[in-house]
Amino acid sequence: MKVLVVGSGGREHAICWKLAQSPKVAELYCAPGNAGIAQVAKCVNVKATDVDGMVKWARDNAMDFVVVAPDDPLALGMVDALEAAGIPAFGPRKNAAVIEASKAFSKELMKKYHIPTAKYETFTDLDKALAYIEEQGAPIVVKADGLALGKGVVVAATVDEAKAAAREMMEGKKFGESGSTVVIEECMTGPEVTVLAFADGTHVSTMPASQDHKRAYDGNRGPNTGGMGAISPPPQYTPEIARRCMDEIFLPTIAALKAEDRPFQGVIYFGLMLTPQGPKVVEYNARFGDPECQAVLSLLDSDLMEIFTACREGSLDKLDIRWKDKAACCLVLASGGYPLEYQKGYPISGLEEAGKSNLVFHAGTAEQDGQIVTNGGRVLGVTALGDTLEQAIDNAYAAAKPISFADMHFRTDIGRAF
Ligand code: AMP
Ligand code: GLY
Repeated sequence: MKVLVVGSGGREHAICWKLAQSPKVAELYCAPGNAGIAQVAKCVNVKATDVDGMVKWARDNAMDFVVVAPDDPLALGMVDALEAAGIPAFGPRKNAAVIEASKAFSKELMKKYHIPTAKYETFTDLDKALAYIEEQGAPIVVKADGLALGKGVVVAATVDEAKAAAREMMEGKKFGESGSTVVIEECMTGPEVTVLAFADGTHVSTMPASQDHKRAYDGNRGPNTGGMGAISPPPQYTPEIARRCMDEIFLPTIAALKAEDRPFQGVIYFGLMLTPQGPKVVEYNARFGDPECQAVLSLLDSDLMEIFTACREGSLDKLDIRWKDKAACCLVLASGGYPLEYQKGYPISGLEEAGKSNLVFHAGTAEQDGQIVTNGGRVLGVTALGDTLEQAIDNAYAAAKPISFADMHFRTDIGRAF
């Protein structure tokens, strides 16, 4: 098959790396890709959000299958557009991807189907939002409704902080139209865990659980980022909690979306908080998380192309998906200053040595005159396995040792910050 992957980050590198191992994949392309992805796939110069351009390229080049990995093209309906053009695609359609694109929608879905999540109200009127914050007291959480690159959430310790956040989102339009509707919700406590699952509209098959580290600095301090590292599986996610999540959250969510005529086919991301009252949903995403994807896919033994095909054909229950009985750790090497201001274009050294026995996924890299240089906030995801989680963490840090570039920043406590 000729397969095209849409996207350009560490997640897409991990997906391409795994697809390249499939005997079913004869030719692999990635749009737009990056310098690491170019080592396993042919990069195509079409922007991930260019729906018409992607459909045209896929049709002109006779793609047999397209994998849409990032949130933006999914929310724009790229899967719908590809399928309408007769090109089989992996990922939820627009009407199911809305579980990520609108927090107001996903909160309402959970309320209607009794799926455990934080208590909340939705507001489009600032005065009403301020009055609600006053009435509920702090701590309290204020969220912009739409996609805001994971940065539209303020966990406010005081009423004043919460009010300022609501004002900024609704009046200041800090996140553009994403902030004209806000969700204000109860502040939950407990460890956070990510569970990614394959879904075919009816069936769901969970991957090993994982844990992201969203803050920029050690000790979970500093600004929120896309994710500074991930481990899999996290020790807090016990088999008993996994069973509860399956019965109370995963199966009911897939059934709810089906009942609403929005069958979910693709990867669904359950962002969970293990609260004293039991596991609850913090958020849904309509795709693989990044960097979680890098850690989790490194544990997959089965053929990813077969899984993607089964998700689209509704036959996921017929597959026996096998995972390594090991642990994984993905350490993100970022540009100094990320997620705020940072420079690009710095040469990266040590990649070859680091890649000898471990996986070095590229997140933001480019090739310039034969040299691989930094080209984004998150630059690399050094991913290693181990028989235990401790070993996987040690292996990832050891593997990253030879790599350097100007202003390189990484956390020193991935997997140990909880
Ligand atoms: P989200 O974009 O909804 O995942 O939120 C980003 C981060 O904010 C989450 O990973 C949590 O750490 C935190 N958060 C979101 N909602 C809540 C909540 N209701 N209670 C406590 N923390 C939350
Ligand atoms: N790592 C968090 C996310 O992909 O949303």
